[in-house]
Amino acid sequence: MDHFAYRNRELFCEDVPVQELAETYGTPLYVYSEATLVHHLTQIQNAFASANPIICYSVKTNGNLSICSLMAKHGSGFDVTSGGELYKALHAGSTGSKIVFAGVGKTDAEMKYALENDVFLFNVESEAELHALGAVAKSLGKVAPVALRVNPDLPPKTHAKTDTSVKGVKFGLDIDTVLEVAERVVGHPNIGIVGLHMHLGSPILSAEPYRKGGEKAIQLINALRKQGHAIKYLNMGGGFGIHYRKLEALPATAFAEAILPVVEETGCRLVLEPGRFIVGNAGLLVSRVIFTKETGGKHYVIQDAAMNDLIRPTLYDSFHRIWPVHPDATVPERPEDFEAEIAGTRMQDVVGPVCESGDYLAKGRNLPEMKRGDLLAVFSAGAYGMSMSSNYNARVRAAEVLVTGRTHRLIRRRETFRDLVACEEDCLT
Ligand code: LLP
Repeated sequence: MDHFAYRNRELFCEDVPVQELAETYGTPLYVYSEATLVHHLTQIQNAFASANPIICYSVKTNGNLSICSLMAKHGSGFDVTSGGELYKALHAGSTGSKIVFAGVGKTDAEMKYALENDVFLFNVESEAELHALGAVAKSLGKVAPVALRVNPDLPPKTHAKTDTSVKGVKFGLDIDTVLEVAERVVGHPNIGIVGLHMHLGSPILSAEPYRKGGEKAIQLINALRKQGHAIKYLNMGGGFGIHYRKLEALPATAFAEAILPVVEETGCRLVLEPGRFIVGNAGLLVSRVIFTKETGGKHYVIQDAAMNDLIRPTLYDSFHRIWPVHPDATVPERPEDFEAEIAGTRMQDVVGPVCESGDYLAKGRNLPEMKRGDLLAVFSAGAYGMSMSSNYNARVRAAEVLVTGRTHRLIRRRETFRDLVACEEDCLT
């Protein structure tokens, strides 16, 4: 469920016409719905309520400070994967005690920063990292709280670039060696192994991987406890899928049905790291058509959002539903019909101004005929949209706005040309 809907052939975000937002803030523009963000967080909180879970919103998904602050206000902690994300989570009002720190390449400086802020858990991904963390903790006279991240070696579930739990990827400790690694740190004065972590990939549209991963977690937790590690936390990561093409996502309760029995059996406190499920369907990318063009028998819509604003179609062949903000043609009722051959549409490529033929938001899509100045909405763009944006082609990054009912406010100003030179101009000789 989200709060983007057409009323009389005009797209609204909650009670605000998207056109009003485009005119107020310019394009390309990321637009988020507060009600949708909170609704999705609450869905997870409710589905897992019986386990009293620690929900850590995954900052990499969308690290806007106002979104993080909204998450904190509604009881969420944070999953961070760099010193920068830790800084942002703290800046958004979190305490270290609600932050889990993941990532295969934490530097000593990042470990020190996290220890000084008393993060809740380090998700440790290799033996080398475990010992480096022990050394940094020793230098600070602390004990580092650790959840061992295990790669459960499950079949591929997502995309080659986002699958994290198949054998041979860089993530986590190999399931066959995790116990040996843990054995060697029993009684370590500066490392406390208190949890087990697994993140299965993203996005996942079935509860089965969680069920299978859960079975493996039970065995490992029992074995780790036998070794003498007081395992109190089970972190099942993120990965819950969303609606991109149609209504393909599972409700949070489906994942809860797979995960809660594991929590009960292990007696652990559950930690979750959802990102996409909360923010993915809560965000739109709004763009304006610059030109249309026909070449080589193809129709192109050249609009002002590019691969630097939303790289997912280029990087993963991801599908994002696209439709005019103010269509003359009908608005399909079912999401899957947005790509159907319906009256008044023709096949078009939606491309941006960047100098690469890989710069597209959609290829061969049936869309109403567009003209210069029309506005387009790219749906389900709240997750890994702005957070993966760049300044490629010296394009300024988009602005972001948050809509709440009938009100809206800027939550990130559009970058300026001055921002583009800010880190370099003092270095000119
Ligand atoms: N926890 C860990 C350890 C992760 O690596 C991730 C995502 C999450 C949680 C959050 O997963 P989510 O709930 O958002 O699915 N850029 C790609 C997705 C990369 C996912 C990276 N890890 C995309 O645009 O599809």
